[in-house]
Formats: sequence, C-alpha cells, structure tokens
Amino acid sequence: MSTLEKLIEEKHQINMADIIREGNPTLRAIAEPVSLPLTEDLLKLGEKMLEFLKNSQDPEIAEAMGLRGGVGLAAPQLDLPIRVIAVHLPDENPEIAELKLSTVMYNPRIIAHSVQSACLADGEGCLSVDREVPGYVVRHARLTVKYIDRDGIEQIKKLRGYEAIVVQHEIDHINGVLFFDHINPQAPFTLDENVTII
Ligand code: CO
Repeated sequence: MSTLEKLIEEKHQINMADIIREGNPTLRAIAEPVSLPLTEDLLKLGEKMLEFLKNSQDPEIAEAMGLRGGVGLAAPQLDLPIRVIAVHLPDENPEIAELKLSTVMYNPRIIAHSVQSACLADGEGCLSVDREVPGYVVRHARLTVKYIDRDGIEQIKKLRGYEAIVVQHEIDHINGVLFFDHINPQAPFTLDENVTII
C-alpha cells in the first residue's frame, strides 16, 4: 500500500507517527504540483490533514492521540512530495479571531507580496522539528496567494498578519525549506528596520 493510500484509509487518523522529521530528504525536496482535476484521493488527503490540525488543537483529543498542536501541515511532512498544504487557525483565541483561516490549498503560489516584512515575537516551531530553534523568522508582512481549493476552483487570497506567516511556513515546506533556514545563526534576534514583530 502506498503512503497516500495508508493516510487516507477510512479509519486512519493522521498522527505524529505519520509525520517525518528533519533529516528526512523529502523535507528538502521540491514537491511536485498536483494535476487537475483533483483526484478523490487528494481531496481525502486534504480532509485528513485538516482533521489532524483540528485534533491537534483539541486538548482532550490531542492528549489521547499524543499530538503536538499545529496550525499548519504540508504534504511533504507526511512523506508525500506534492504541493498540498492545510492551515487551520482557531477562532477561540480573541487575539486572532479576525484572522481565522481554515483551508486546504492545492498548488499554492505567492503571486505578490509586500516590501514590508514581519516575524512572530516568539519565533516559529514545526511538527517536523523536534527541538526549539530560537530566533526571528523574517517573512513577508502581506502577500497574495493563488491556489486551487477543494472544489477545484482557483482562488486568489490576500493575507496579512499571523495567517500570512503560517501560509508562508507551509509553502516553504513544499519548496524544501524549513523555518530555521531563515534564522541568522550569528544574530538570531537582529532585525532590519522594515520588520514588524507580531
Ligand atoms: Co513546519
């Protein structure tokens, strides 16, 4: 059975054992675009990825399943070198309520971005990286992303703030890039003037 077939089996729920960790070459490969129209299998994969994120954010389910909390997941993290990402930003947190985003993106591409940069105050983490890597991860503050949605329809979305950061982290994964690649090891907390800390 292929990796994809195993992941999308009816009874299977994606868990930490499905997620590959740094050192695995799939995380460093440029993933292939998915072909259109989207197959039933790829649609199921998207659902399973989103389900994983929701489970990981539910304290009881996460504890029972031993999941680390996550807001985004990219197919290469499941050892599938294809351009599929899922993002689930919770709306429970009042601070990011207006930034809610829950979606699967097929073949996502950044088609425009701001000159201004932004980074998260607490740095970033990744389900494929089992260690903390301190430092600011500088990204575009705003961007326009183009992707195919679950209905096979091309979408163009403008993102800013936290959701823009998360989507860039996931798009990095399909390009073989990990968050700490953006951290300057000599000066992990040094920022240019045009960077907003969020
Ligand atoms: Co990651």
